[in-house]
Amino acid sequence: MPVYMQSVGVDIPERRISNDELATIVDTTDEWIRSHTGIGSRHIAADGSLTSDLCVTAARKAMAKAGIAADDLDLIVVATATPDYFGFPSTACIVQDKLGARNCAAFDLTAGCSGFVYALNVASGYLETNRAKHALVLGAETLSRITNWEDRGTCVLLGDGAGAAILSRRDEGEAAVLANVLGADGSGAGDLYMIQAERTKTFSPAPPVVPLLYMNGRNVYNFAVKIIPQMVQRLLENCGRKLDDIAWIVPHQANARIIQAAAKRLGLPEERFYMNIEEYANTSSASIPIALNEMDEKGLLKRGDLIMLLAFGAGLTYGGTILRW
Ligand code: UT7
Repeated sequence: MPVYMQSVGVDIPERRISNDELATIVDTTDEWIRSHTGIGSRHIAADGSLTSDLCVTAARKAMAKAGIAADDLDLIVVATATPDYFGFPSTACIVQDKLGARNCAAFDLTAGCSGFVYALNVASGYLETNRAKHALVLGAETLSRITNWEDRGTCVLLGDGAGAAILSRRDEGEAAVLANVLGADGSGAGDLYMIQAERTKTFSPAPPVVPLLYMNGRNVYNFAVKIIPQMVQRLLENCGRKLDDIAWIVPHQANARIIQAAAKRLGLPEERFYMNIEEYANTSSASIPIALNEMDEKGLLKRGDLIMLLAFGAGLTYGGTILRW
């Protein structure tokens, strides 16, 4: 059964922090951040605003565009590294309740910055096998809550936001998900992780530890530059297409330099990749749906166009999809 993406919606927190403002609390400069990453600002969730709150706003916008009511949803998948509760319950269940979606399954998925592509893959498989008609897929983060604001090597890179997509099954027509590639290399787990309380103790009071993000940027950078061209090749092979058939490549927005290096390796002009990292920084699992929403609002996406989504992140994980818009 063909599955297609009906609509997208986002929530971008109002609070915008420029590089210059960030440079007032950490030893950095606008020049360093722009030249090393392409980032100019980031948006930060308001005090008390949780990942589920961002999800609900983004979801309502996507549902309104698609004409889908909460009770029409069969499945909610939230890709996030910053859930409302660490462990359980899932943020997807909080979202399900806040939306009043009474007829659906709901769960979270952890695949770092590749989370949205992983979640799309899982949800589209669920729909294709006729187990559901409408799925709400979210990539949402409040990374500011796990950012070490004293670590200039990471805090300048991250931002908050959420993106939602409505995936639906139709009875006939062309398949809209043409190819998928998912993969993982857990030997890189230590390159990007959240520092947590000591896990070996089972029966002694442990001091509370604030969860904070840690990254070996150089290793993640090298992984990304290597894996992007491999994903592109495998995706094209999977559906017998050429790069010329692809209207847009929409990469995870981690660092403009990663995209420039990957474009060079592929022999492609940078303009074939959509980039908006300058405004939002790296919003992890939310970056691809935020980019899709912006492209849609700018009229860059035409129905029938083939677009390629490419992501990589903690795990280490990677995931790519070719979608017919
Ligand atoms: O979403 C997926 C996860 N993340 C990524 O994809 C990130 C991948 N990695 C990267 O984007 C890059 O590795 C970074 C942007 C994180 C770092 O760039 P880099 O060119 O690898 O810099 P570096 O860590 O090697 O640091 C170079 C210098 C160091 O100074 P010294 O030792 O040469 O004197 C750092 O202390 O730059 C310094 N530095 C900074 N200076 C000003 C590091 N961060 C900053 C900063 N402002 N914010």
